[in-house]
Amino acid sequence: MFNRFSVRRLKKLAKTNIIGKDIIYMPVCVSTNNVAKELSRLGHGTLFVADKQTGGRGRSGRSWESKKGDGIYMSLLLKPDNLTPDISQLTLITAIAAARAIGGDAKIKWPNDIVLSSRKVCGILTELSGDSVIVGVGINVNNKKFPKEIKDIATSLYIEHSRRYSRESIIADFLHEFEVLYDEFSKSGFSVFRAEYKKLSVNIGREVRIIKNNEEIAGTATDISRDGKLVVDVNGEFLTVQSGEVSIRGMYGYA
Ligand code: BTN
Repeated sequence: MFNRFSVRRLKKLAKTNIIGKDIIYMPVCVSTNNVAKELSRLGHGTLFVADKQTGGRGRSGRSWESKKGDGIYMSLLLKPDNLTPDISQLTLITAIAAARAIGGDAKIKWPNDIVLSSRKVCGILTELSGDSVIVGVGINVNNKKFPKEIKDIATSLYIEHSRRYSRESIIADFLHEFEVLYDEFSKSGFSVFRAEYKKLSVNIGREVRIIKNNEEIAGTATDISRDGKLVVDVNGEFLTVQSGEVSIRGMYGYA
């Protein structure tokens, strides 16, 4: 059950008006983000989804484990009316949509990794292409195990709950959550989601390491600012972190 991806099932489950209304399904591609870029002439909300990626990409030049049938590999093509609201905020909104769709005890590791039991279950790669924004989402769904390099930091829904999941149903839930959030975000910006983001955050109140230009600063994450930055208390001085990797010391070791 839940082995073969069915676009028909996805279309039946998806209840959105714009986001994911058009679906480009590929049994295999290099990266759904690449295809979305190549086809960025298509309309706002087009969903690209693959059963397997041969060159799945993560942030900071890393690769993304994309074995056939195990995970969700998808990208949304977006044409925002104005690109000024920093696309990093769009990524935070996507993280909320993914956490809602994954459900259970899914939390967000700032800025946009979704974790279950302190391990990463979902990653988001947002890229600009001309006037378009491409939001790529990878969710580990039915993976039974991971390569040894990532096995201590990655998890899947199968590993957490000992059962297989319907990828189509998770995608449909994600599309619905994303559509609702994107609509509100376009009107009101990130600040209306700040409380929910903070509630979902795994960082707040914990020690973090800010890694920037190979330098590490240790502190305690205390808040998320109105524009989505991480506020970190470093020996009584409050730093507002916009970019760079943040690691949770002691529970989650990937850099
Ligand atoms: C990360 O956490 O490093 C981001 C991972 C993003 C992976 C997804 S899978 C679908 C889309 N296509 C890609 O090549 N990458 C994103």
